[in-house]
Amino acid sequence: MDYTLPQRGRAAIDFLADLRNLSNRFEQSTDQAAFDGGLNSDDLPEDPAQLQEVVTPLMENNHEFRVLRMCRDWTLEEHGQIAMDIFEEIRAEVEPGLKALQNGPATLEYDENLKPPKYWDGYEFHKSAGGWDGHDYMGFVHGELIHRRMVNPTFAGMVYAVRKSVADVVPLENPAKILDVGCCSGQFTQGVAELFPDSEIWGCDLSPKQLEQAQRYANENNLEWRLFQADGADTGRADNEFDVVTSYAMFHEIPISASLDNLKEYLRILKPGGYAVVGDVKAYHTFNNYNRWKADYWNQVHGGDPFWREYASTNLADLALQVGFDEAEWKGLGEGEYPFVLIARKGDNNE
Ligand SMILES: C[S@@+](CC[C@H](N)C(=O)[O-])C[C@H]1O[C@@H](n2cnc3c(N)ncnc32)[C@H](O)[C@@H]1O
Repeated sequence: MDYTLPQRGRAAIDFLADLRNLSNRFEQSTDQAAFDGGLNSDDLPEDPAQLQEVVTPLMENNHEFRVLRMCRDWTLEEHGQIAMDIFEEIRAEVEPGLKALQNGPATLEYDENLKPPKYWDGYEFHKSAGGWDGHDYMGFVHGELIHRRMVNPTFAGMVYAVRKSVADVVPLENPAKILDVGCCSGQFTQGVAELFPDSEIWGCDLSPKQLEQAQRYANENNLEWRLFQADGADTGRADNEFDVVTSYAMFHEIPISASLDNLKEYLRILKPGGYAVVGDVKAYHTFNNYNRWKADYWNQVHGGDPFWREYASTNLADLALQVGFDEAEWKGLGEGEYPFVLIARKGDNNE
């Protein structure tokens, strides 16, 4: 949908993206300062909690590190409110179009009786003010203003490419029916739908506001997605219904107990021979100790992601085998081993 960002809003977004890029440069020099000061990754503990105890106090003494943290804290703590303020500047222009886009080939089924899990309800992941649902157009605010306008430029095309790389590993040629769990505003679903244009595409999420944005995207592109509000651990769908169940960037936001419940549910709703494909951030074991400290510090400790550490320290293939998948592997894609992907197959005789 076309719209014009007023000068103030555009400047605010550009400033956030620039600040984030600038902070990346500080990161390199704080690394250098740490090594020059005698820090050696091999001498550090492996355990992420112990790493915090050992490395963080050393870094606190570094002025550039404190500036880096201030930049990152500021972008994290302000971006949600800034995006909501920008929305108010363009509400009159975009609201009629957003309402019109609720109509089209994509359907959305709400579940008014859904009780969201505690870990999700009201929590502001990534310190994003308003969380997933705290605004009448949170799907547009998050999916369009934050994600497409702020996050994408920071990672220069990477965000979409990474999603596409995960969709690419689905090991079936022509799956009839695919469910994308935690589809949010539909950005990964879009990658799946592009790879499998003849498949029936379903998507679910706990957040009605994000689903509404996914629906608008699908309608705008004439896609017949079937979206519904549900917990991935209890989708309400039939046994053996889907050929593939996907999920992208959801597992690091949920506790391991919820990941187990999700995988159990995917197994139930997959057809025999079907696949669960779950893409997400990098496993901690792929990092050296110093880089593990960084990943843990900027996400678990400082990033508003309370389940990141337990996700990144758990082998998802073991979880998949534990709940009854016949085969499972969890691996990093490409040279950078990013993102990580679980590919789990339901046995042919598992009805
Ligand atoms: C980081 S977003 C996912 C991004 C999306 N898959 C994409 O690629 O753009 C995480 C999403 O997972 C959803 N979510 C978290 N726990 C869930 C659950 N148990 N069931 C369904 N959705 C869940 C959140 O509401 C949020 O929309």
